[in-house]
Parts: sequence; structure tokens; C-alpha cells
Amino acid sequence: MQSKEKFKTAETVFDASTLRVLHKLRDRGYFDALQGPISVGKESNIFSAFKDGKLTIAIKIYRVNNCDFRRMYLYIKGDPRFTGLQSHRRKVVFAWAQREYRNLHLARDAGVNVPMPHAVMENVLVMELVGKKGVAAQKLKDSPPEDSKDFSEKIILFMRLLHSHGIVHGDLSEYNILNFEEKPVLIDFSHGVKLHTPYAEELLKRDVHNIYRYFKNKGVLLDEDTIIKKITQ
Ligand SMILES: Nc1ncnc2c1ncn2[C@@H]1O[C@H](COP(=O)(O)OP(=O)(O)OP(=O)(O)O)[C@@H](O)[C@H]1O
Ligand SMILES: [Mg+2]
Repeated sequence: MQSKEKFKTAETVFDASTLRVLHKLRDRGYFDALQGPISVGKESNIFSAFKDGKLTIAIKIYRVNNCDFRRMYLYIKGDPRFTGLQSHRRKVVFAWAQREYRNLHLARDAGVNVPMPHAVMENVLVMELVGKKGVAAQKLKDSPPEDSKDFSEKIILFMRLLHSHGIVHGDLSEYNILNFEEKPVLIDFSHGVKLHTPYAEELLKRDVHNIYRYFKNKGVLLDEDTIIKKITQ
């Protein structure tokens, strides 16, 4: 990263209030020290962090000042868990982080492989780092599975488990699935909604379509209706 770019990242991610939150989380023992960036996404930056001398923690910092908060607002205002939310930038971003944290817990309770969520405060989410010896697992997009059929079946099973626990991921694709030792780990749950939310079905169809498209190109013969049936029946 060029030094100018680095400075820009530091400025947009580590504003004074985010630094305060990071200090609080560290003081409460969720991590000991930030290590370095894992990824810079559209709405967030992810860092690895040490705990008890090991790089086992991932910290997702939702940028408050450099995000498409209007799009985020549109996607969250219909969620009954966040009724009354006004289109204030900070509140929307905090709700977005909260929603990801809650959805990760729901997914975990459903038996789906997701990073263990440890804490959320304002725009900062602390979770388990998925990887080995501090090296984050790669996205499915960059690390195609050896056995596509088996991998796709595991993802569909996870989608079924989510569905039977009343939740839809809402942003599922090869970008939000990690390939960790040939097993899928679902990440990035901030779009996730409960089943009775008006657009839940639409999001489920989109998730199914993305999975269908990815595995079709890997030679796995599945059609979208069959996948939907496997998930919902
Ligand atoms: N718990 C984790 N363990 C390991 N790597 C992670 C973890 N969470 C996120 N990552 C990495 O960081 C990337 C971005 O995370 P995520 O998808 O949650 O954020 P995002 O803001 O949606 O980013 P993007 O815009 O790239 O989708 C992931 O693709 C993955 O490579
Ligand atoms: Mg993502």
C-alpha cells in the first residue's frame, strides 16, 4: 500500500470514536493488540488481532464516514428487529454491525459453520479469525474446492439449517464463503433477515441463484428449484 493510501485508510477507519471503542474492547479483554489488515471491503475493514499471544481474532470495523449508508438504510429499515431506525449515518452503521453480530449467533445456534462472534460495540465487531496460525482462510472465489459436489452439499445443508432456524443469509456468494480446509465457513451476515421479513424470499432466491451459478461452472448439476426444495422442505 502506498503511504498516501495508508494514511487515507487510517483516517477513514480509525476516527476518534472508533479508537475509543477499540480501547474499550481491548480493556475488556476481547483482544490484546491489532496486528494488520486482512481485507478492505466496500463498507468495512477487517484486521487480525492477537489474544493471549496468538493471532486468533478478526476485528471488523464498519466505516462510519466512508460507506454507502443510504443503501444500508434501505436494506435494514424493513427488518422488524430494527424498527424505528432513522436514517442517521451513525445509527444505521451501528445497526448494521449489531445485525451481523446477532445473525452470527443465530447461525451458530443453528449449527452452521461461521466465525464465533465475541462482541459488538458501535461499529466494531470482534469475532474468531477463521484460518490457521493467523493466516485467514481464502474466499471460495479464490480457492475452489477439490470436491465441488461435496462442498456444494455442505453449503446447501447450511442454508437449510439457517432456513429451519428462521433466517436467510441474504448476501451469499463465493465472496462470502471461506474455504477452510475444504469445508465452507459462511461470513458477512450483515444482510441476514428473519424469514417473515417481506423481502426474505427474494434474498433467499438470490442466494440460491449465486450458489447455483458458482457450482454450475464447476460442473455440479443442480437446478435452482431443487436447491430451494432442499432448503425449504
Ligand atoms: N472471521 C474472519 N476470519 C477470516 N477472514 C475474514 C473473517 N471475516 C472476514 N474475513 C475476510 O475479510 C473479507 C471481508 O469481510 P466481509 O465480507 O465480512 O466484509 P465486507 O465489508 O462485506 O467486504 P466486501 O465488501 O469485500 O464483501 C472476507 O472476504 C474475508 O476474506
Ligand atoms: Mg463480504
